[in-house]
Amino acid sequence: MSVGRAEGRAGHLPSVPPAKPTARAIGHRPRMMTFRRILVAVTFVIHLPFAGAMVSLADRCGVAHSLAIGLLACAVGLALFSSRMRAGMTESRRQTTLGRRLADLAYYVHWCACLYTIIPAVIESIGVPIYDLAVGVPPHLPIGAFLWTYVTGLAVCGYGILVRRRWFVVRELDIAVDGLDPTFDGFRIAHLSDLHIGTHTPKRWGARWVAAANRHRADIAVVTGDLVSSGTAFHEDIADVVAGLDAKQGVFVSMGNHDYFGDGEPLISMLGRRGAKVLRNAGVRLERGGKCLYLAGIDDTWTHRDDIDLALRERPPDATVVLLAHDPERFREAKKRDVALTLSGHTHGGQIAFPFLSRWVSLSHLTHHFHQGLYRDGRSTLFVHPGLGTTGPPMRLGVAPAVVILTLRVKTPRPPRPTPSARAASPDRTRPSEPTPAPGP
Ligand SMILES: [Fe+2]
Repeated sequence: MSVGRAEGRAGHLPSVPPAKPTARAIGHRPRMMTFRRILVAVTFVIHLPFAGAMVSLADRCGVAHSLAIGLLACAVGLALFSSRMRAGMTESRRQTTLGRRLADLAYYVHWCACLYTIIPAVIESIGVPIYDLAVGVPPHLPIGAFLWTYVTGLAVCGYGILVRRRWFVVRELDIAVDGLDPTFDGFRIAHLSDLHIGTHTPKRWGARWVAAANRHRADIAVVTGDLVSSGTAFHEDIADVVAGLDAKQGVFVSMGNHDYFGDGEPLISMLGRRGAKVLRNAGVRLERGGKCLYLAGIDDTWTHRDDIDLALRERPPDATVVLLAHDPERFREAKKRDVALTLSGHTHGGQIAFPFLSRWVSLSHLTHHFHQGLYRDGRSTLFVHPGLGTTGPPMRLGVAPAVVILTLRVKTPRPPRPTPSARAASPDRTRPSEPTPAPGP
């Protein structure tokens, strides 16, 4: 492997351009404050059916002052959320004690169950009174239905948080790359993304993902951002995980938005010392049989550190380009610059989706154009990784964490469709083919 512009003087790492003047830690940005306010508003709304459910539960148990109990439960749920949100903004080692983690997970099961309840509760709140009026009885709010919906939500979300997110799959995928030199046919990339190592995604989970990737003996291993959940407390753990990756021509990392939920620079230094190359608007030449493939990476988009033109500046004229870009929305710009393959993450495939239909029914489908799997536009291809860790509620449902092994293939042009006259003249369509003689005894 030879290293391009990026590595020329430093000798080990691609050069690290200084952050642009507009680059700032994400946690201080107005955008983040707006996001927090929206989260608080959502939490308030989803706790209203929960309050009704608790009133129903108190009534069933024959407890006096059921309305006060429901309102108190709602208030406690909201207060716990604000403390969880503050803790989640900057994770610390203190949160990793067993008691803290169990308390956190229990609260997340509750919060997700409230979210799960909201849509059925709205439907029930409209449908039941209408039904009451239709049959001539006084309309009532179906708080009993809220209770059973919430209990169902506890079961479903408990599974997603306590069980499902622990299982990961290994996916092997062939990608036909336009313009790929035949020398690189069969070139394998172990693709990991969105590790989010932290309080709820421990280092030992990362070690299992790495072991699974290493078993495939890929040519390169790449991590497309969001190694961090938030803060800097788990940088050593993350560096240990990435250092475990083993690939013939090296390990390459691009940065994501969560990597700057705190100071990302110490992590970049640690990764470099442990042998990974962090591609910050830079690229490297990967050579095989005298031919070259250019692997580039851009820095984080959210903090305006990214510069795709700088990343591609040293691309050799005839080299196929593979770009690491955490945010898949950069695909359009990559395509304009004739990047053959863009590898992204960021969306987690929605993290919560309808099982088996996650490509069409998931949270990320509502918010991202490119949210999961393969996309093609002309000569360019994008692969959006479903991620391995979690953000927000530590829950996975319908979108499995995955280690992805990509194999690059030369894209063979489709044969032209035969014209009607050619089809009519085709001997295959006018007479049965000759039977193949069976081998003799
Ligand atoms: Fe992420």
